[in-house]
Amino acid sequence: MPKSTGTAQLKVGDKTIDLPIYSPTLGPDVVDIGKLYAQSDMFTYDPGFTSTAACESAITYIDGDKGELLHRGYPIDQLAQDSHFLEVCYLLLFGELPNKAEMIDFEQRVTNHTMVHEQMHNFFRGFRRDSHPMATMVGVVGAMSAFYHDSLDINDPWQREVAAIRMIAKLPTIAAMAYKYSVGQPFVYPKNSLDYASNFLHMCFAVPCEEYQVNPILSKAMDRIMMLHADHEQNASTSTVRLAGSSGANPFACIAAGIACLWGPAHGGANQACLEMLREIGTVDRIPEYIARAKDKDDPFRLMGFGHRVYKNFDPRATVMKESADEVLELMGIHNNPTLQVAKELERIALEDDYFISKKLYPNVDFYSGIILDAMGFPTSMFTPIFALSRTVGWISQWREMIGDPTQKIGRPRQLYIGEAHRDYVPVEKR
Ligand code: SDX
Repeated sequence: MPKSTGTAQLKVGDKTIDLPIYSPTLGPDVVDIGKLYAQSDMFTYDPGFTSTAACESAITYIDGDKGELLHRGYPIDQLAQDSHFLEVCYLLLFGELPNKAEMIDFEQRVTNHTMVHEQMHNFFRGFRRDSHPMATMVGVVGAMSAFYHDSLDINDPWQREVAAIRMIAKLPTIAAMAYKYSVGQPFVYPKNSLDYASNFLHMCFAVPCEEYQVNPILSKAMDRIMMLHADHEQNASTSTVRLAGSSGANPFACIAAGIACLWGPAHGGANQACLEMLREIGTVDRIPEYIARAKDKDDPFRLMGFGHRVYKNFDPRATVMKESADEVLELMGIHNNPTLQVAKELERIALEDDYFISKKLYPNVDFYSGIILDAMGFPTSMFTPIFALSRTVGWISQWREMIGDPTQKIGRPRQLYIGEAHRDYVPVEKR
């Protein structure tokens, strides 16, 4: 339980209710309203949770005003520059950067779990070939609980850790299988000789007819994309995983719930929607038309890849992603990529426009990622699956943190009921 550092007073009618205040390591203080209903017969009301801290956590901290993202205290730009995805996985899961021996052991444990049960191949054949890969991933990840019975007991710390390792190891394999199935190519098994990001690219793009050499530029860029998506505090999909986990559901079911939530275009689905939007704009001269639509209250169109609930200056991940997009396209000899030109001009125009400035709308993590993934050869339908496989470590780290807390209880919000008051049933002949 956090330590009270003060008291807030709430006057309700002639009653004054004392509510404890807790202070974090970083960020805003919180007012504990846990006893409010018992003391006032009132609920708080905060749809969308714009002012609500749903839990305490030590994993990731975001400062929306400074544009700061820390994983266990380490800034994302330093990690993106000097670390690699599996090291960030270790950091998120266990709280400290690994030493050499710990990193070798962790990498070996993940590598040994990258294959999926052979019978899981059959699940894919039940889907249409043109199914969205996110649909297959939700189904197949949820089905993992039908196979890995020795890592379902959430009360056993060792089984929780094995489930976490399995998820980190198998999600790229499942995502690659979803892609292969959608393009009618045979599944490619993981190769233990390859690093994590290279293995994913190999499983996606290798074919049995010839050797596939992973381009080191692309695997470094893929590893960085995975790092930039690894975790992000209590976003919608992480909150979904926590709520599912609070009922005692098994970890595979919880991650499947997170994948389902991430799919939405307001969340992880924005990377696919953003590239499709940039392609629809097509050329720089059409940008003003779309800026006008984004500002038009009567038009539901939004600039995909723009805006964020927390970041109100810039998304530090977008900054790194933009640099990576320039670097990858340059190194691949892709000059004057029209989509990148439209993206950069759209960003420039929007950031000079009062509407976007006043509403503090900046490019987010999804604005540039699609340009890199497109250059790597992925269809837009694979953008959110790649976000999902990268975010799996964040989801499972947050899930382990919650399940490991002996005080955790099932999440059960209340409501502001605006429906009919009590009324009696009327037989159909009298209606
Ligand atoms: C991710 O939470 C996370 O951390 C998420 C994420 C992660 O790593 O987990 O960072 C990943 O989901 C990034 C966001 C990806 N989504 C998009 O790019 C979709 C486009 N953006 C939005 O729909 C929106 O900005 C959200 C959903 C990201 C944030 O929505 P909020 O915080 O609820 O803000 P809002 O919808 O209340 O908008 C505030 C105002 C509104 O205008 P008013 O009603 O006040 O007049 O800004 C406007 C909105 O109309 N607005 C936009 C806009 N985003 C907000 N107008 C045009 N284009 C946009 N993109």
